[in-house]
Amino acid sequence: KNSMHQKLIEMHEHAKSFFHHILVNTEVGKDAMAYLEKRGISREYIDEFELGFAPDNRDILLKVMQKEFKDGLFDESGLFVERDDGTFMDRFFNRVMFPIKDSKGKTIGFSGRQMPSIQSDTDKKQPKYLNSPETEIFNKREVIYNFHLARPHIRKTNEVYLFEGFMDVIASYMSGVKNAVATMGTSLTEQQIHRLERVCEDVTICYDGDSAGINATNRAVELLTQNTALGVQVVSLPNKLDPDDYRMVYGTESLEKELLHHKQTVFQFKRVYLMQDFNLENESDILTYLELVLKELAMIPSVIEKDFALTQLSEEFNLSKETLQLQLNQLIQD
Ligand code: UTP
Ligand code: MN
Ligand code: MN
Ligand code: MN
Ligand code: MN
Repeated sequence: KNSMHQKLIEMHEHAKSFFHHILVNTEVGKDAMAYLEKRGISREYIDEFELGFAPDNRDILLKVMQKEFKDGLFDESGLFVERDDGTFMDRFFNRVMFPIKDSKGKTIGFSGRQMPSIQSDTDKKQPKYLNSPETEIFNKREVIYNFHLARPHIRKTNEVYLFEGFMDVIASYMSGVKNAVATMGTSLTEQQIHRLERVCEDVTICYDGDSAGINATNRAVELLTQNTALGVQVVSLPNKLDPDDYRMVYGTESLEKELLHHKQTVFQFKRVYLMQDFNLENESDILTYLELVLKELAMIPSVIEKDFALTQLSEEFNLSKETLQLQLNQLIQD
């Protein structure tokens, strides 16, 4: 790649090491260290993911960089923001830093999490996670968080777990499930899917259990089933938790054994997803709901899954399986 590209990567690698050093070795990092400890992230994982801390100071990284990299690219790096007078200041301050890496493990961007400390009014207006802007080396539509560490595990298991957040990936990792990646707070893109397709045959979507996460799951399921040959399964989170919350409530071992290993088929996810829109006390709602569900079922190739679902629906709605089968056959012929 060209020299600008190379230099931007060097700057990011340098910044990553600097933020990590501040977090683990200095007094300035100790509140952030305590925060991570409170969230159950041990030193081993702080090191593995090379987490860091950007101090509450607007020119500390700038000074380090001006010393190391004399001739510019401060603008192009995305690490700084320009003041009205044309001088630069640090983009990230008072944040826990998550380095975002390319598939070779080189740092190409950052996401910085707000500290939980009592927030002033100006802090409150800032996003919880502040991300690097798009740069020459950082493209949010392409990048997959943790792909470089997860890739050998994805190949070995022939499967990838897709999470919403960085902390969820780390939680999964801690529970021993290392074929874990996340998108960058955006919805899944075709570029990301194509990268995953090259390394495995199955995707398990494990997004947050709140309504934003459930809707994002539905969109990801659509995108994956319509555009790829990847097998898709879903892990549904209870009580609006996210996977990292789940680990904090039920423990790291439960995250693996009780949650991540309990996957739903796409049909089972849709069956529950579609329920949201109906009042199933109401007869006409039940009919509309069943028609929609049977339409989904008609698209499922597995005869066994169809039979299983019909048994389930007949018990749940107190209808004969034969009737449901007749309706399903009609839909399959259409
Ligand atoms: P969540 O709001 O679910 O955050 O956003 P989280 O991962 O659970 O974070 P914690 O546990 O509160 O620390 C999911 C993901 O969306 C992106 C981040 O990638 C985050 O991990 N996001 C979220 C942003 O980019 N900006 C934001 O302000 C919030
Ligand atoms: Mn410039
Ligand atoms: Mn979320
Ligand atoms: Mn979350
Ligand atoms: Mn969370």
